[in-house]
Amino acid sequence: MRYTVSDLTIDEKIRLLCGRDRWRLHTLDGKIPELNVSDGPSGLRKQKYFDVDGVPTHKTIPGMTAMPTLSVVSNSWNREMSYLDGETIADECIENDSDVLLAPGVNIKRTPLCGRNFEYFSEDPFLAGTMARAYIDGVQSKQVGTCLKHYCANNREVERHHQSSEIDERTLREIYLAPFEIALKAKPWSVMCSYNLINGVYAAENRYLLTDVLRGEFGFEGVVISDWCAVRNAARAVKAGLDIEMPGRELAFDDVKAAYEKGWVTEEEIDTLVERILDFIYKADEAKGKRTVTLTKEERHNIAVRVAREGAVLLKNEDNILPLTGGRILVSGLGADSAPQGGGGSSAVSSLFKPKHLGEEIGSRLGEAAEILYDTAVFRYDGKAISANHTPFVAYDSDYVVFCIGNDSTIEYEDGDRSSLALPKGAEDTLLELIKVNPNVIVVVHAGSAVDMSKWADKVKAILYVGFAGEGANEATADLLCGVVSPSGKLSETFPIHLEDTPTGTEHGNGFVDWYREGVFVGYRYYETRYEDVVLGRANVGNYDYVNTVAYPFGYGLSYT
Ligand code: GLC
Repeated sequence: MRYTVSDLTIDEKIRLLCGRDRWRLHTLDGKIPELNVSDGPSGLRKQKYFDVDGVPTHKTIPGMTAMPTLSVVSNSWNREMSYLDGETIADECIENDSDVLLAPGVNIKRTPLCGRNFEYFSEDPFLAGTMARAYIDGVQSKQVGTCLKHYCANNREVERHHQSSEIDERTLREIYLAPFEIALKAKPWSVMCSYNLINGVYAAENRYLLTDVLRGEFGFEGVVISDWCAVRNAARAVKAGLDIEMPGRELAFDDVKAAYEKGWVTEEEIDTLVERILDFIYKADEAKGKRTVTLTKEERHNIAVRVAREGAVLLKNEDNILPLTGGRILVSGLGADSAPQGGGGSSAVSSLFKPKHLGEEIGSRLGEAAEILYDTAVFRYDGKAISANHTPFVAYDSDYVVFCIGNDSTIEYEDGDRSSLALPKGAEDTLLELIKVNPNVIVVVHAGSAVDMSKWADKVKAILYVGFAGEGANEATADLLCGVVSPSGKLSETFPIHLEDTPTGTEHGNGFVDWYREGVFVGYRYYETRYEDVVLGRANVGNYDYVNTVAYPFGYGLSYT
């Protein structure tokens, strides 16, 4: 039997306005079906609800497929890749009984320092929205729901729970709402409101954004779910049009019931939300019967490799040193052994796949033509060598050096921003040593956003920016370095030369307010227009050469042809 609002008591209706626990909605003691949600954008991160003693647990269930992060998907500029990525993750959701995937995130990359840029698509609203729309179509084609997030203007992690994004109306619409408006055309089952305030009002309590704009103008008909613990006042959230507070909170019922009894919240307002919540729950329940698993673990892994290949960006290839065809090749750097799969936080997938060393992958592709050497020293990111017998002469004797450098989930993560674009010092020092003894250095970069390569970019022959490319990173990298496929990725965010050159420079708000003074001039919009005015101080912008003002521009990427 399908219950409607009129079948429920006021208490049952109020009960539905907040989740039951971290991942599930209420069932009103089994009266209505159970709906559960799971993270995340680069693969299923499903957590156990309770441990054996019934104590809530946050333990992530291992054995899922770590897909490339959305920043890599976006560098493919290929809607089909985004669709395929979403479809593949949805297949794993079905296998694990997950109804709704809390993805994709479409927040604009306003500053390269944002700790979650790896989870997002672009600095450009159209590219971000378009790729998100395809991702949503991919997931929902398998009858699994999505949750478009984080609505809106959550463009930093620092102070994300308290800081107000102060944005003029034109900028808000053209830059920060635009990707949501485009992605909503795919009809995501839900939208997640963000933690931050927008022009002084919490997203979770922002009636203008949640009801007037999202529903009134953009025509969204699904449910709005809060980010986890983003609701500070449940009554104000109800009045703003927030449907479901997550996660479950003991006092949520009491807060709304008290507001209802005082007449601050009307039954009509509650009914409007509950109608949408029931639609959401029954839609998921009906979808359950239409879901089929169509991929094996191996097929999902191979798709992860394919998406990683398409999302890698060749930034430099001097003397056409790539693709490699053979010779003595030293493969070195921490990432060669364990390429970081993603960044830190709620998107972290627990994969059991054991990648092979990049050297082994290269060797298997080049066969007898190559002799692979392994550098015995592996440097921690603090620069301390883990094994002392580092052998630079190995590099001296090699025809080529392939060096992996980059960030990992301890450097780029949710709830924190970077303070610089610098790469780990120890790894850079090693690279600079290798450059001294070998002219043919090829650098593979693992990162989730723009990084500063200025210390060595002009001293190496080739640079392949792989990003945080999931469990298939090394296979994809070897395919690209050995010419199994030609690189085709293009940057979906600008790589500036200096942090000071970016629209927001080293600013990060004052803990209460983050002024979006640059307005619509975000990313390439800034570098192509305001850069000279603001950074070089020149009066007339003139027709200076845009490329010289950044390290690698938005849309940049080489191939072998
Ligand atoms: C986190 C994230 C959000 C995630 C949610 C559940 O705080 O901001 O993206 O989906 O909580 O883990």
